[in-house]
Amino acid sequence: MNKKIFALLAIFSVMVLSSCGRNVKIFSGTFDRILKKMTLEEKAMLVTGAAAFSPADTLLEGQAAGAAGATTPIERINLPAISFADGPAGLRLDSEHTWYPCGTMLACSWDTELVENVASRIAEEARSKGVDVMLGPGMNIQRNPLGGRNFEYFSEDPYLTGKMAAAYVNGLQDKGVGACVKHFALNNQESGRSFNNARVSPRALREIYLKGFEMVVRESRPWAVMSSTNRINGVYASQSEALLTNLLRAEWGFDGVVVSGWGAADSIAAMLHAGNDLIEPGSRQAYEDIIGAVESGRLSEAELNVNARRVIDLLGRCSLKFEDAPMQHSIEEHIALARRCAADGMVLLENKDRFLPITAEKYPYVAVFGQDTLIAGGLGSSTVNTSHIPVLSEALANAGFHIAENAEDADVAFVVISRGATEGEDRPLSDFYLSKDENKMLNDVCRSFHEQNKKVAVILNTGGVIETASWKNLPDALLLAWLPGQEGGNAIADIVTGAVTPSGHLAQSFPIDCKDVASSSNFPMSELKSAKGKQVKNFDYTNYQEGIYVGYRYFDTFKKEVSYPFGYGLTYTTFSMDDPELFEYRFKNLMEVVVEVTNTGDMPGRAVVQLYVKAPMRGMQEKPAKELRAFAKTKELKPGETEIVTFPLTKTEFASYNEASCSWIVDSGTYIFMSGNSSADITGETARYFEKSISIPVEDVLALDSPINELRVRKSFFREHVRKDKSTSTKRTTNQVSKSVTPDTTAIVPAAVLNQR
Ligand code: GLC
Repeated sequence: MNKKIFALLAIFSVMVLSSCGRNVKIFSGTFDRILKKMTLEEKAMLVTGAAAFSPADTLLEGQAAGAAGATTPIERINLPAISFADGPAGLRLDSEHTWYPCGTMLACSWDTELVENVASRIAEEARSKGVDVMLGPGMNIQRNPLGGRNFEYFSEDPYLTGKMAAAYVNGLQDKGVGACVKHFALNNQESGRSFNNARVSPRALREIYLKGFEMVVRESRPWAVMSSTNRINGVYASQSEALLTNLLRAEWGFDGVVVSGWGAADSIAAMLHAGNDLIEPGSRQAYEDIIGAVESGRLSEAELNVNARRVIDLLGRCSLKFEDAPMQHSIEEHIALARRCAADGMVLLENKDRFLPITAEKYPYVAVFGQDTLIAGGLGSSTVNTSHIPVLSEALANAGFHIAENAEDADVAFVVISRGATEGEDRPLSDFYLSKDENKMLNDVCRSFHEQNKKVAVILNTGGVIETASWKNLPDALLLAWLPGQEGGNAIADIVTGAVTPSGHLAQSFPIDCKDVASSSNFPMSELKSAKGKQVKNFDYTNYQEGIYVGYRYFDTFKKEVSYPFGYGLTYTTFSMDDPELFEYRFKNLMEVVVEVTNTGDMPGRAVVQLYVKAPMRGMQEKPAKELRAFAKTKELKPGETEIVTFPLTKTEFASYNEASCSWIVDSGTYIFMSGNSSADITGETARYFEKSISIPVEDVLALDSPINELRVRKSFFREHVRKDKSTSTKRTTNQVSKSVTPDTTAIVPAAVLNQR
């Protein structure tokens, strides 16, 4: 492409930016005709973001200032542009918008309806500003507590992640705003994120890192997916045909647009060829590369047509709402929702002698130590512009407490421990531990208040998991308030006063020490830099040696103690859960598990019922001690009230990925269904023998180039267990519920320990 033509095009497109109508409707029957009319240059423009053709601050018609990007309008054929704005904690524009809790906190609500509601309120604000597609939800797995973007992501568990993401996508798209789920895939660390090579076994990929994406694609059909900037087993995610075409589209049925991570650019032609359709935010270089690649035959025009047609399809989906008046919404309602979901996502970790809730009548004076101005959210794409900054003392004052002028006058102390989080950096190991000053503050306040028989509550205002084991017994209450959004202060007050009964549960494990996490020897624990001529471990490449043993899958299987287990959370009331009952249908591998929950305490509250399944082991195929396969949150139950929770399940959901046969396999044998309040608090279980195994062959994609010596449980344990499973399993009939033996995992020894023997 010669420079003169480019300059002309650029002038032409700047004009276009202000004149191409957004009220054009593009119906699917016309996509091919539109494509046929387009020149090569126009197609290249269409798949290159608008920043390539206009100064960054040029606004498209109807586009709000501060949007992350846009497509390029093609006026000659009346093809409008669409705009993308960041999230996912709210609408990120220059204008002021509601800042909701971070993704992690939403997941800790275990409430998919709530998450859907939040996303649909975000969509209303997006519609009012002409935003067509929201860049969210973020849904990578929290592989290590120090992951820099963990706060934007939901959980260490793929099932919880998939369900939360699907709810979020439904909330956006039901209001006519497209979702762009991100970052596909394996953006599990920020160090070297634009080149880091994640080296992962196909099994860990399928079961842990891709599962949530598979669920969201199959369950809620997002309009767009954002590719991540890292590599996976040697290939850039954005250039991986195996990932973007074979898996995402052919196997899972994705029919939307793959958008690049902002600024990702190794080989633009390779990206388009692989199925990464749109290059954002767009650059002149990208545009020229595309034209050059087609002219030289490195990319066929037919391939470019496929990408361009998908972008037209996305324009079509967005166009169907262009004529509508901006959606009406009430900001007051959005703020009330931000408060409600912050309260519902908080996790009460400690509450000695039922100290909380408290009233201003009984404890009129309170003092706040530490950071009174709370950190509403993380920095980067999910920072939202708001003038509502949460301040704890103000919120407590609004709830009727007096803020003591002198610490001695206070009846109760609140100690805030804060940790910010930002895109672009992983947390250093030191961030995991309390600093000297924090330790001193905590000890001093606890000592002096306890000496006077007064109580202390600690508020954890953090984007990530921190060390708690060494000090959690000091205060009388410990409330995990995450990065709670703009209404965080009021939400804390709601929990403190009992206006809302806590119902949040951890979506991640809190290890005793960061180094207890299975991925810790393969994660950047401090700042790493590139070294000339050398591949730096955990920077240029990362070996996912822990395999499927992420989070509680590791702690439970390897019997490693944690400070707080996955799924944990206290409340002000008590619940009883009956043993699960399993009803098997003799068709389509369907079954239902039913659990009855009763509020046996003296306050209203909501229970989270978690259903874990332990699959039998066959051959050398290891299975974690348990895996979350379903969950539900009850409505608010009054004291004495009961709710029956039903989980419909299909057997195929219990499959594990078998690398030798490249198939998902539901092994025959005894399955144990465990229900409870957390991964460590199983209140009841039942077992079922599946006589026939089920096998679902899939394509062998994303293989490792060389082995990574994955963590395994001891081989002899397997032989023992397989024998035991064979001898104890009996055929069971429908509705016959039995208590089954929990596998003896005492023989499990981490590979690291074995290697030393
Ligand atoms: C980067 C971020 C992504 C964000 C985009 C636009 O690609 O990784 O999360 O949505 O920029 O700001």
